[in-house]
Amino acid sequence: MNSQEKMKTLMQQKKGRRLLLFPLPLQGHITPMLQLANILHSKGFSITIIHTHFNSPNQFNYPQFTFEPISDGLSENDASTIDVLALISLLNSNCVEPFRDCLARLLSEVAEEPFACLITDAVWYFTQAVVDSLKLPRIVIHTTSVCSFLAFAALPLLREKGYLPKQDSEFEAPVLELPPLKVKDIPIIKTRNPEDVYKVTGRIIRETKSASGLIWNSFRELEQPELAKLAQEFPIPSFSFGPFHKHFPASSSSLQEQDQSSISWLNSQAPKAVIYVSFGSVATMDETGFSEVAWGLANSMQPFLWVVRPGLVSGSEWLEPLPNGFLETVGGRGHIVKWSPQQKVLAHPAIGGFWTHSGWNPTLESICEGVPMICSPDFGDQMVNSRYVNDVWKVGLKLEKGLKRGEIERTIRRVMVEKEGEEIRQRMMGLKEEVNLCLKKGGSSYQSLEGLTDYILSL
Ligand code: UDX
Repeated sequence: MNSQEKMKTLMQQKKGRRLLLFPLPLQGHITPMLQLANILHSKGFSITIIHTHFNSPNQFNYPQFTFEPISDGLSENDASTIDVLALISLLNSNCVEPFRDCLARLLSEVAEEPFACLITDAVWYFTQAVVDSLKLPRIVIHTTSVCSFLAFAALPLLREKGYLPKQDSEFEAPVLELPPLKVKDIPIIKTRNPEDVYKVTGRIIRETKSASGLIWNSFRELEQPELAKLAQEFPIPSFSFGPFHKHFPASSSSLQEQDQSSISWLNSQAPKAVIYVSFGSVATMDETGFSEVAWGLANSMQPFLWVVRPGLVSGSEWLEPLPNGFLETVGGRGHIVKWSPQQKVLAHPAIGGFWTHSGWNPTLESICEGVPMICSPDFGDQMVNSRYVNDVWKVGLKLEKGLKRGEIERTIRRVMVEKEGEEIRQRMMGLKEEVNLCLKKGGSSYQSLEGLTDYILSL
């Protein structure tokens, strides 16, 4: 082969092997997107990540990627809001121009080695119009479960049928159109203008329908009926090859420092004795709820590792709202940190249960380590995930009455020491085994990832 032919072959090999990724700047979205970036990089794609200044990923952990910052126009006040839906709306309007300029520049700079497509978080709904104008295909990644996405997609129908706005008296009634959901599980998001929930989710659904492909951090054995329903309602090429973090160990995408004392403390505990408690990066609670959590933990008599994120209790710095006498009562039986190395914690032999807000990342992380869950969802997709954990997969128990110390204490004991907990653990171990199989050669996630790779190269 002469040098010109060699160059041509090299170019053909490279064609379509450059990808642009655009994560939503929230921890629960950045984590799966960077895991996806790692997976695609391992498949031979080169990765450019466009990101906002707000919550920008730690580039030093990813020397193999190229990073392109854009302005997000957020003031300090905007960035510290607890109204996630308002933040999403604002980001989607502030980023249009900077994103379009950045994309147009990147596309013009690398004309001889074109980008195959843009992979964006589904929540960046504005990006579809931009890529359409620049003639670039867009594939979206949904960082939620398929079951919760279908529930979001059904919001207009549920409203038409009179389920919304939710009435307290109807909370326990079944949603006939979406079994096994109850009215209280409908994924509404708290925000200052409730109408915005329909506007924002409506845009996400619409622009999902316009995408060239869908990516899910889920796996067929977990959500088979939901994936079948999705294929009917969204007839677009769809790829589910989760759990992403199990493909191979990758650098941490944590935006906060993880307190390693979590692990040294766990090393001193008996096997499966500890309940790990974390409500993730966004969920909040009031002082009354926080106090109920504290007394529920104290009264359960089980050792616990508790992540109290600064800001978990609105208006407080960190541990000031702990009730009087709590620390003296629990002594060395409890360990509290601001942020933990969660995946390592869940894999630790001392962990026997995970009390979670039921975000999709922690749910998958718990399944992968075979750890039974206690669920107390705060908003949105968490409501649906927790219903599935309790009723469909039966790998955890949902706190049906909210944060009440009596129910908390009782549920911790059901999971950690009673026979019921052992049965839950057995089912969890079965799911964990399914995870191991789906990632192996010939498994459902393995094949779906191969499918995505071929699909991108065909664009
Ligand atoms: C949220 C939604 O709930 C989720 O369903 C959606 O798809 C994305 O936004 P969530 O899954 O709740 O995200 O993520 P979160 O629990 O906030 O955490 C994200 C990551 O932070 C996890 O992968 C977890 O391992 C890590 N984490 C969490 C830590 O490293 N330390 C902690 O103490 C807590």
